[in-house]
Amino acid sequence: MKKLLHYFPLLLVSVCLSPAISFAQSEATLFVNGNDSHQIISKDIYGMFSEDLGQGIYGGFWVGKKSDIPNKDGIRLDLVNAFKKIHIPVLRWPGGCFADTYHWKDGIGPEDKRVGIANEDWGMVPDNNHFGTNEFMELCDMLGSDPYIAGNMGSGTVQEMSQWVAYLNSDIPSAITDLRKENGRDKPWKVQFWGVGNESWGCGGAMTPEYYSDLYRRYANFCKNYPGAPLKKIASGPNGNDIHWMDVLMKNIPHNMMWGVSLHYYTIATGNWRDKGSATQFGEDQYFGALQRALNMKTVLNDQEAVMNQYDPQKKIALVVDEWGIWTNPEPGSNPAFLYQQNSLRDALIAASTLNIFNNHADRVKMACLAQTVNVLQALALTQGKKMVLTPTYYVFDMYQVHQNATLLPLKLISPDYTFDGQSIPAVNASASRDSSGVVHISLVNLDPSKTITIKTSFGDVSWNQVSGTILTSAHFDDYNSFEDPYKVKEASFSGAKKEGNMLVVQLPPKSVVVLALK
Ligand code: AHR
Repeated sequence: MKKLLHYFPLLLVSVCLSPAISFAQSEATLFVNGNDSHQIISKDIYGMFSEDLGQGIYGGFWVGKKSDIPNKDGIRLDLVNAFKKIHIPVLRWPGGCFADTYHWKDGIGPEDKRVGIANEDWGMVPDNNHFGTNEFMELCDMLGSDPYIAGNMGSGTVQEMSQWVAYLNSDIPSAITDLRKENGRDKPWKVQFWGVGNESWGCGGAMTPEYYSDLYRRYANFCKNYPGAPLKKIASGPNGNDIHWMDVLMKNIPHNMMWGVSLHYYTIATGNWRDKGSATQFGEDQYFGALQRALNMKTVLNDQEAVMNQYDPQKKIALVVDEWGIWTNPEPGSNPAFLYQQNSLRDALIAASTLNIFNNHADRVKMACLAQTVNVLQALALTQGKKMVLTPTYYVFDMYQVHQNATLLPLKLISPDYTFDGQSIPAVNASASRDSSGVVHISLVNLDPSKTITIKTSFGDVSWNQVSGTILTSAHFDDYNSFEDPYKVKEASFSGAKKEGNMLVVQLPPKSVVVLALK
């Protein structure tokens, strides 16, 4: 801190003395403080959400054991191989809204004995329940991800939820553990992350926060900690920036009964839920609108954290942003209930900027899950028969994985504005961390679609000699990867950063994400 105070005034002086024209020429100033850093960026901020919705599971991860698409036990291998590379730390399932209609016993045992259901929330389509608890746990195992299960509090009983926990986590002889053994799994999986309901203010039961928090106490009470398997229970938190919901939960739920509170925040480019705008056909108005609304995540976190801080100043309760991302109109011709959307460079910029916000809030945000992994909303991958394409958002998660479990380095950034139609947002956002081998990574995003921005970075207590980097950009902000042109937007190596004296000078191209490694 002493060092920061030492350096920062110099920085301010140099900024203030610069002629105003230097900002018009697009220059940003960054100070990275390597001193006094102790906050770990939880790897779980890089988590994913995969609901039984549209072709997220069926036709996505799950192709079935008889498919001619390469699979292991019905799980699609090209997806697994691609996702293993980006180290997804945690995977949330089965919903979403689906969670509060899901009865887990429908999805266990021999396939031909499983009962079919209608997927009530997502198009009333038939669901044969061939992907259930054991299959989800196998998927997590293949990915190397921790499972995060959302229990049914909306239409399920307390007994049902408590037995699901026992099926997953108990090693004590009982009818439920016998059932697991009959289904081929001897030892418990020891699931940690447990959601008690989902969007209980809406599709999860249309509850008031007072009613939900009472009910939470009852359900959570019967979700037991089995030996060696303590649960991290997560309450269903606010819809966006609903302060009252958070306030009631923090007040009414004993803090030793919950590990975290969730929060859902979606970016709608138009600001209009009835017509969210196309994923690929948009102009600068929706480019700007989407970025502006995505950056609002920072305000939402600040506001929600302020409420949590009143009740939990020591920050023991985690904020879990377990649904986030851009939500556009579905692709023309697709089933509108399947929420199938393409994914452009704009969406990658949203992902990168949001992850920078999460990194910088690592003291409270301990987990986040992008909605929704495959074929649904802001997906990492899209599939079509045997074909699979990785989206621009996938590459952001690839580049940013260096921040997982690294130590956050606080920074001060003075950015020029990107202005459109009389409104402005900061053109540049950033976060920085130091990994366990001492390498410092800085992730930088330039949202301005037409200006290169020069970033002059000074450091406190960071010594380095070499810089290397990776960039994600493309000719147009609406460029995307299709089955016909799968590598239009992909990461490449970056040579626009150099050492000048003690300073790092970066030429950050328009509409780009850059991650630098300083050694
Ligand atoms: O992600 C799609 C839906 O959005 C989820 O099912 C629900 O939780 C949210 O409203």
